[in-house]
Amino acid sequence: MYRLLFTQVLRRLDAEAVHHATVRALALLSTLPLLKRLLHRALAPSDPALRVTAFGVHFPGPLGLAAGFDKDAACAEALSAFGFGHVEVGTITAHAQPGNPRPRLFRDVRRRAVINRMGFNNAGAQAAARRLRRTRGVPVVVGVNIGKTKVVPESEAAADYVTSAKELAPLADYLVVNVSSPNTPGLRNLQAVELLRPLLASVKEVADSTPRRTPLLVKIAPDLADDDVDAVADLALELGLDGIIATNTTIRHSGETGGLSGRPLKERSIEVLRRLRARVGDRLTLVSVGGVEDVDDVWERLLAGATLVQGYTGMIYEGPLWASRIHRRLARRLRRHATTVPELIGRTAPDRLQG
Ligand SMILES: Cc1cc2nc3c(=O)[nH]c(=O)nc-3n(C[C@H](O)[C@H](O)[C@H](O)COP(=O)(O)O)c2cc1C
Repeated sequence: MYRLLFTQVLRRLDAEAVHHATVRALALLSTLPLLKRLLHRALAPSDPALRVTAFGVHFPGPLGLAAGFDKDAACAEALSAFGFGHVEVGTITAHAQPGNPRPRLFRDVRRRAVINRMGFNNAGAQAAARRLRRTRGVPVVVGVNIGKTKVVPESEAAADYVTSAKELAPLADYLVVNVSSPNTPGLRNLQAVELLRPLLASVKEVADSTPRRTPLLVKIAPDLADDDVDAVADLALELGLDGIIATNTTIRHSGETGGLSGRPLKERSIEVLRRLRARVGDRLTLVSVGGVEDVDDVWERLLAGATLVQGYTGMIYEGPLWASRIHRRLARRLRRHATTVPELIGRTAPDRLQG
């Protein structure tokens, strides 16, 4: 049904216009308590075998929505009702900003990929905080992803992240420092350990000072050299971070300027996950994102050591029931193998667990 809608209608329309219409519809749904609850009952993961706990937070299922879809925290509840085990909102910056000129979002249907150069278009940390303060009608685990305001120079980056963290950490189930988007000039330089250490240390101070101590993660690029992946992992351990999200979009491609996501990112994303797991074992929570399309991908990431998995482009091609369908199939497969998500994580796969 969605495939037909996609091939006949959606793919002919401007990708960003479709995106905004979807977010508006979901935001409207967020204001309709009865429908929201009905959807949640029908679509949200409910099988106990899917449940997983990471950094003290309980997730109903391992698959969440990656950052960049709900940039302004406008529709997290509706997304949870459609079956995501968590929703990472943002990237949110301290100050509102328009992002890059349009067009800035492109589908590559043949490769099941997307290229974007959105540039952190968002209404700023205060506006997001107002939305996140609204009481919730259905349960939703919300991660908040923060980034640098474009006009703020690199030398003041830490203070800019701290402004967002102060506003948003108390409202987040977990907080993510995003230093890996390719569309804010200079942002990815912040992944260099000598710049990253003071930045993460200052944000961590804020995250640690909230009443519940907000878990803190860092999101990295797939284009880091392997040694730099190791260096960020070591730094995360040294600073006592809770986890690493790997990966953001890649700039290693030949299409439109911007970050590439979806199927072509799969291989490198898994490679980075395996590298991180080999380096840190289970001392950090690893969140794997990049090219996740179906239940096989989620299964593979869990076995490779991810506690949580995220996706975005997969939903563009598979539609709103994507997460719910994957969770349902995952639950079935777990039962077949008489196991659970927590038991599966990082297990060197004996043959019987191969799909
Ligand atoms: C249109 C679009 C916008 C994105 N915006 C953000 C963002 O604001 N912050 C961020 O950390 N990642 C952002 N991402 C990256 C995703 O969170 C994810 O890391 C990446 O797309 C790889 O996952 P996928 O292959 O499942 O899409 C964006 C991705 C897309 C496609």
